[in-house]
Amino acid sequence: MLSVNGAAPVGIFDSGLGGLSVLRAVRALLPAEPLVYVADSRYAPYGQRDDDFIADRTLAICEWLAGQGAKALVVACNTATAQSIALVRDKLALPLVGVEPGIKPAAIVSKSRVAGVLATQVTLRSERFRALVERHAGDLRVLLQPGHGLVEAVERCDVSSPELVALLRGYVQPMLDVGADTLVLGCTHYPFLDAAIRSIVGERMTLVDTSVAIARQLERLLDQHGMRATLAEKAALAGRAAATPAAPVRFCSTSDGTHLRQLAAALLEIDAPVECVAIPSRRTRELDASLNIGAA
Ligand code: DGL
Repeated sequence: MLSVNGAAPVGIFDSGLGGLSVLRAVRALLPAEPLVYVADSRYAPYGQRDDDFIADRTLAICEWLAGQGAKALVVACNTATAQSIALVRDKLALPLVGVEPGIKPAAIVSKSRVAGVLATQVTLRSERFRALVERHAGDLRVLLQPGHGLVEAVERCDVSSPELVALLRGYVQPMLDVGADTLVLGCTHYPFLDAAIRSIVGERMTLVDTSVAIARQLERLLDQHGMRATLAEKAALAGRAAATPAAPVRFCSTSDGTHLRQLAAALLEIDAPVECVAIPSRRTRELDASLNIGAA
């Protein structure tokens, strides 16, 4: 049954820390909305997992968020969206927003008509991505580049080391060499690498990040369902009647949460504790059993 309580939180989920780039945009646009964020860092990166594993985790975490009272969900992970958004829509009767690489905006802004897409291998090989390119690319030449190693770097809070910049250079220099003027950041971890990417491409490329568009889509959905947190609810949440700062964010991680706390503080200026949560699912029970985790 749908919750129509405006004061209920919006659930946001990613394989790890990348969804914080979406959370940042949601908080900027909808500061009255309380948020629950889940980082499935124990099982990141998803880009190296099989399709069934990603679907299993996505559904388990969305169900967990629904169980925590979330009124709407944002799957802030391109990989999980590409693989599993249809499944979640089928199973859960909650307003749901997914994310996908910004092919459409790239096709609008590119002047050279060559754009690179940096995303996980799983996203790039998905049927959903193929259909997106077919629908929106038009005459745009699209260069696909799996960003191997980038999610792992952000997960350990590395957004600027020389090794990371060298890895990025290997991905974007070939795009520049063939005239790309636009780079689609097709993974929610990558906006945290924008300074490192800028240090390589300077002003020669427009970086396309869809997090603001995702926040707007969430706003439209909440309005449609009459679920927006009101200022009164926001004030009540803060325990006073005057204008208040942004509503609280509850951070949860399936790992120890240290890096989530660190990145949220460094890049979002939110210093909040992180709850370690267990969200078991069919595939992780198998995996943990094979690793002997939890055995006496
Ligand atoms: N942030 C996820 C995405 O947008 C990363 C996926 C992964 O864990 O590999 O695709």
